[in-house]
Amino acid sequence: MNKFSRIGFILAAAGSAVGLGNIWKFPYITGEFGGGAFVIVYLLAILFIGLSVFIAESIIGQHGESDVSTSFVRISKSKNPKWKFAGFVIFAGLIILSFYSVVLGWILNYVFTSFQGLPTEASVAGATFGALTKDISTQIFYHTIVAGTVIFIVLKGIKDGIERINLILMPLLALILFGLFLYAVSLDSFSQAMSFMFVPDWSKINGSAMLAALGQAFFTLSLGVGTIITYSASLPKDTNFVKTSMYVAFVDTLVALIAGIIIFTFLFEAGAPSAAGPGLVFISLPVVFSDWGILGQVIAISFFVALVFAGITSAVSMIEPSLLFFIERYNMTRQKATILCGSIFYFAGIIALLSMSDEFGPALTFAGKNTFDWMDFITSSIMMPLAAILTCVFIGFYVDKDLLRDKFTKHTSVLVFDAWYILVKYIVPFAITILFLNKLGFIS
Ligand code: PFF
Repeated sequence: MNKFSRIGFILAAAGSAVGLGNIWKFPYITGEFGGGAFVIVYLLAILFIGLSVFIAESIIGQHGESDVSTSFVRISKSKNPKWKFAGFVIFAGLIILSFYSVVLGWILNYVFTSFQGLPTEASVAGATFGALTKDISTQIFYHTIVAGTVIFIVLKGIKDGIERINLILMPLLALILFGLFLYAVSLDSFSQAMSFMFVPDWSKINGSAMLAALGQAFFTLSLGVGTIITYSASLPKDTNFVKTSMYVAFVDTLVALIAGIIIFTFLFEAGAPSAAGPGLVFISLPVVFSDWGILGQVIAISFFVALVFAGITSAVSMIEPSLLFFIERYNMTRQKATILCGSIFYFAGIIALLSMSDEFGPALTFAGKNTFDWMDFITSSIMMPLAAILTCVFIGFYVDKDLLRDKFTKHTSVLVFDAWYILVKYIVPFAITILFLNKLGFIS
């Protein structure tokens, strides 16, 4: 198999992890849960839970050296072929990609409309955003550009496609974020944003804040969809997977924090509310930027371009597990697999966007949720938590412990191994089960 270089892997996995989850979702849920205390809970969730599962997925991939299904079978104690069913997780990636591509299309649209001018009032910005999510032809147009780009990149394979795009886009993303961060530091509200993000007010933390932090830790590290397993299958065999996992989690967390600081500085500077929900970057921010004239337009364009770059590198990582599955298990060529999976997510994306329109919405709404929301719910509330629980139970009970210890202690101490093993075997599955039951409404 065509392998990543070590740095190529770190960039590609970081590219997968850093996405809309960091720059769009993390700031808005931090805003909704009141800042500092939520950030601390989130950091703990990344460090103790997300990172442990990331390492577990990385081991499965690096030592299975194949698609998700085959890797599970290969590293299980019994080599029981039934473990191939654990590969169901790859379909979560395709479903997420269907609506992620639509959302990326909105952002691409914002890049272009920012050239023309920005809304000066929240009500206008809200109406513009609302109209976009109902505008079928505009959404299909941008979704097609995004889907075409993703397909074009993955057609070229791991090294010439995925590794190369990450080598280009990740440094550019870092540059834009750094520029925006420097601008934020120069503003008066920077210190207010820092206190909002880092001074905890524990009264704001409750069960739902903790569960939101946990869910976000999984989503942001691209866990539970086979992406990290698939990318790790192309990680050179002797690479220290504990270190690479730590680097990726670190970069991902750093970007989320920096995005949060930038966005809250901008919002506070304009006196805008911090708890605007999902509309934060689509409705609140453009109005803030409009106050700053031409400079605001440049900042708006840079910000949305950064979001597109972050999103594209995540999007390619959502389709790759399915491609590798069809290539390895069905002997398909990469071209055939790409056409198959590309068509699936492209058309599913169109259904998702149609389900938000006035014309087709009613026919595509079931039990009070439109198809777009169902896709989000089924993946983030059911498939991803189930996959994470399965991965932990698999590692804890169905993989030879001595084998894992051997692999670990080539790179770290026995103590680190023991701590990780206890976390993965007992603590993480327990935490995710609670999250899962909560998402399904069994506990609140
Ligand atoms: N980690 C990405 C983000 O934070 O936007 C989302 C994601 C990427 C989820 C890849 C799942 C995945 F396979």
